[in-house]
This record gives sequence, C-alpha cells and structure tokens, in this order.
Amino acid sequence: MNVSGEGGSLAGMSGGTPAHSVSKAGLNALTRLPAGELRADGVLVDAVCPGWVATDMGGAGGRPVA
Ligand SMILES: NC(=O)c1ccc[n+]([C@@H]2O[C@H](COP(=O)([O-])OP(=O)(O)OC[C@H]3O[C@@H](n4cnc5c(N)ncnc54)[C@H](OP(=O)(O)O)[C@@H]3O)[C@@H](O)[C@H]2O)c1
Repeated sequence: MNVSGEGGSLAGMSGGTPAHSVSKAGLNALTRLPAGELRADGVLVDAVCPGWVATDMGGAGGRPVA
C-alpha cells in the first residue's frame, strides 16, 4: 500500500508543487505497474490519497490527525 496524493494526478495537475507532483505521479506508476503484474497471483498493490491532513507536511487547516 502506497501513500499518494491528488498532486500526482495527471488529469488534475496544473502547477504549484512540481517536485511533489512528479514524485507522486511516479509513485502512481510504481503502484499500477506491479498491481497489473501481480493481480493474477492474488496480490493487491494499491495506493491511498488521504486528502488534506494537518500533519507537519500538511500544516494547519487540514483534517485533525486521528
Ligand atoms: N498531509 C497531507 O495533507 C497529505 C495529503 C496527501 C498526501 N499526503 C501524503 O501522506 C504521506 C505522509 O505525509 P504526512 O503529511 O504524514 O507528512 P509528515 O507529517 O511530514 O510525516 C512524514 C513522515 O515521513 C517520514 N520520513 C520523511 N523522510 C523520510 C526518510 N527519508 N526515510 C524514512 N522516513 C522518512 C518522517 O519521519 P520522521 O518523523 O522520523 O522525520 C515522518 O514520519 C506522504 O506521502 C504525503 O505525501 C499527505
């Protein structure tokens, strides 16, 4: 299970944080490729996009950390 983010979506990309977006787009590819390779063996490879969370990275304003 990988932790990605909406910043890695090619469809939603429009600038702002290029290093972050490129790394998450790469992570999305590194999720989908092994997911396709390993599906037949019953291995799930997936990623989650948590949305805005008030962590050190996310800063104030996001959802409180549970
Ligand atoms: N926060 C958001 O709004 C948000 C939204 C979408 C996606 N995400 C994604 O969620 C994931 C976690 O983000 P976060 O908000 O929880 O960030 P965070 O509060 O900054 O925490 C980052 C974590 O990564 C660890 N880390 C950083 N560099 C590392 C390294 N080189 N080797 C090993 N561990 C390392 C840190 O360890 P230390 O504490 O030991 O430094 C920390 O536990 C990230 O992939 C982020 O892109 C976050």
